[in-house]
Amino acid sequence: MQISEKITDIREIRSQLKEPVGFVPTMGYLHEGHLALVRQAREENESVVVSIFVNPTQFGPREDFRNYPRDTERDLAMLEPLTDVVLLPSPEEIYPEDFDTWVLPGDITERLEGAARPGHFRGVATVVIKLFNIVRPTRAYFGQKDAQQLAVVKKIAADLDMNLQIIACPTLREPDGLAMSSRNSLLTKEQRQEAAVLYRSLARAQELWTRGEKNAGTIRLEMTELIEREPSADISYISIAHPETLKEMLHRVKPPALVSLAVKFGRTRLIDNIVLE
Ligand code: PAJ
Repeated sequence: MQISEKITDIREIRSQLKEPVGFVPTMGYLHEGHLALVRQAREENESVVVSIFVNPTQFGPREDFRNYPRDTERDLAMLEPLTDVVLLPSPEEIYPEDFDTWVLPGDITERLEGAARPGHFRGVATVVIKLFNIVRPTRAYFGQKDAQQLAVVKKIAADLDMNLQIIACPTLREPDGLAMSSRNSLLTKEQRQEAAVLYRSLARAQELWTRGEKNAGTIRLEMTELIEREPSADISYISIAHPETLKEMLHRVKPPALVSLAVKFGRTRLIDNIVLE
């Protein structure tokens, strides 16, 4: 496994890799969810590149950039058996002082995470395109866990005629259903227990849907009531929307429908989703 911090070195290493090349961008503090993406990339490609970069431009001024968990040594040990190249750029390498170009996705970012975190997807889109240009992958792997990010990246790749395939991977969960996330490590013991309600509320939505409930308001209300029973849960949004356009289904649910939510437990904000088929 080669580890590379400089863009010029990465380009040199990249030119020697066997095709096709699978790429998994991450912010590190890896867990089984990330590794599932890397394993899928391993199965489908001759070479695998992973980046670890906590991207400052996708965090808002009052968000957890400084607090974001980091452990590069541990990450590298986890990647060693699966990865050919790890990119570990510094913020200065990605954003030199005179950096002045941004990628601005459109309407798709006006809802959900985009509405709750202004500027977030500008940061994600810009860094993802930079990483794609540096790595030039055949396929790039993204988790369904971050459903809007996946939709945004797919839209950018299509709109800007990018020559790569975006592959969506299923969400990996803890035994109680909580979606694996680097941010779970920031929860207190009590908050961690309460956070299982996210998946329970999504499972409840699935159950209602399977039983024939078509009213979006009814489903949202039941989810809200379930989550509000947890003392520290503070709902940012609960949404039922089209999985690609993210347009909200205000009345009748028409499949496929993305049920997604963001809830704060103390200072830690978690997101999750399922798709009703
Ligand atoms: P990060 O949160 O580290 O996630 C990296 C990738 O792992 C994303 O595609 C995310 O959807 C996926 N992932 C996270 N948790 C998962 C889970 N439980 N199951 C399956 N996949 C999971 O997302 C980012 O980093 C950044 O925004 C990035 C794309 C790297 C740009 O900075």
